Amino acid sequence: MYTVLDHPLIKHKLTIMRKKDTSTKDFRQNLDEIAGLMAYEITKDIKTEKVEIETPICKTIQDKIAEDIILVPILRAGLGMVDGIRSLLPTAKIGHIGVYRDEETFEAVEYFNKLPESISEGYVMVLDPMLATGVSSITVIDMIKKAGAKKIKLVCLVGVMQGIEAVQKAHPDVDIVLAALDDHLNENNYIVPGLGDAGDRLFGTK
Ligand code: URA
Repeated sequence: MYTVLDHPLIKHKLTIMRKKDTSTKDFRQNLDEIAGLMAYEITKDIKTEKVEIETPICKTIQDKIAEDIILVPILRAGLGMVDGIRSLLPTAKIGHIGVYRDEETFEAVEYFNKLPESISEGYVMVLDPMLATGVSSITVIDMIKKAGAKKIKLVCLVGVMQGIEAVQKAHPDVDIVLAALDDHLNENNYIVPGLGDAGDRLFGTK
C-alpha cells in the first residue's frame, strides 16, 4: 500500500524546497518541518497498550506506545528527516545505512551499515527523501530484512510511480508514505519536477 499525504502545510513547505534558489538553510529547515508533520501520519498504526496512571483527580486506564520505533535514514539525504520525526518520538533508536548510486549502472552500492540490535523487534521506518528508481530503497530494505526486521515502513518526501511500483514488487509487505507524487524520471533518473539532488541541497555540497 502507498499513501500520498495531502496537507496544505506540507505542500507549501515542499514548494519552498523545490525552488532552485532556496538556500541550504531553508531547504534543511523545511525538510525538518515536513518530516515532523509526516510523523503524525506515519505513526498512526504503531501499537499502544493500556496503562494505569493517576491524574490529580483519580486513577485511570490510558494508552502508551508499546513498541520500539527504529528510524533508518539512508545516507546522506535521509539524515535530514531524522530530527523532525525524532522530536515527536524522542525514544526512537536510529540505524544508519549508506548506499550510493553508481552513476553508470544506477545500482545501489552499500558503504555503511550500523543498525540497532533490537531491529527484529521494532517498527522500522526507512527514511529516503527521494523515491526515484527505488533501487536504493529496495537494497536498504533487503539489508534491514536480512538483519531481522519484520515490520517496515518506507517514508519518502517525493516519489514517482516507477519507484513505488519497484518497491511494491520487491517488498509487497512494506507500506510507503510520501509527501508528494511527482510526474516521471528524466534520463539521469532525477525526479521531475522534483527538487534536484536532495543530499547536495541539504548539505550544500553543490
Ligand atoms: N535522488 C535525488 O536526490 N534526487 C532525485 O531527483 C532522484 C534521486
